[in-house]
Amino acid sequence: EEEKILSGKKIVISAGPTREKIDPVRYISNHSSGKMGYSIAEVAVSLGANVVLVSGPTNLTPPSGCEVIQVESAAQMYDAIHSHFNDADVVIKTAAVADYTPEVTYDHKVKKTDGNLSIPLKRTEDILLSLGNKKTHQLLVGFAAETEQVEEYAKGKLQKKNADFIVANNVTLEGAGFGTDTNIVSIYNRNGDIKHLPKMTKKQVAKEILAEVYRKLSEGEK
Ligand code: PMT
Repeated sequence: EEEKILSGKKIVISAGPTREKIDPVRYISNHSSGKMGYSIAEVAVSLGANVVLVSGPTNLTPPSGCEVIQVESAAQMYDAIHSHFNDADVVIKTAAVADYTPEVTYDHKVKKTDGNLSIPLKRTEDILLSLGNKKTHQLLVGFAAETEQVEEYAKGKLQKKNADFIVANNVTLEGAGFGTDTNIVSIYNRNGDIKHLPKMTKKQVAKEILAEVYRKLSEGEK
């Protein structure tokens, strides 16, 4: 039986990929399985938190005891998270949100021709950045999925997105990133602390992240 160290805290967690619709049969997406975000939700519930899990399409069963909001697109994820932001204590943005979405979506299947096809894409809203600009008391945890210069990019995201923590994973490493049951992460704290963790299960990573969150919340209460 875990100590309920997060009881009374509302934690909003985003997980999984987004799907950006091209036409009724096609979309743009990525390889996120949702495992990392669902693990954080599961551990947060076991620590007593009130969890809202905002999930893109995955094959996973959400942990019992949390409120689940299923979304598809980056725009829908934006709305769901903002609707729960004001009274949240913590937001953890594990989702792999599409950075681009088709400029136009077609009501009917796009027919093939002999020629090539280009699909114009426009930028999606950066949800984490929008939360960073809006936040008052909320503790904000972002992720960074990188393939190179992990430390530099993670520190950049910490500043630019006004986050309290960035959890960085080098998704090119064996046993890290998308789809796996394990991850290899470094936790960058706004105060300058860096915690490099070895390969461990996503559930263990979740425990480490939530321990850091608990520590930060306790500092605020001193
Ligand atoms: O789901 P799994 O298969 O378990 O894989 C886990 C994971 C690899 C998806 C996860 O560990 C991870 O790294 N998640 C972040 C993926 C990502 O989109 O990283 P990014 O570096 O592109 O984005 C940085 C941060 O900004 C993220 O917190 C992201 O949620 C957020 N973001 C990005 C774009 C956007 N439009 N809005 C956002 O909020």
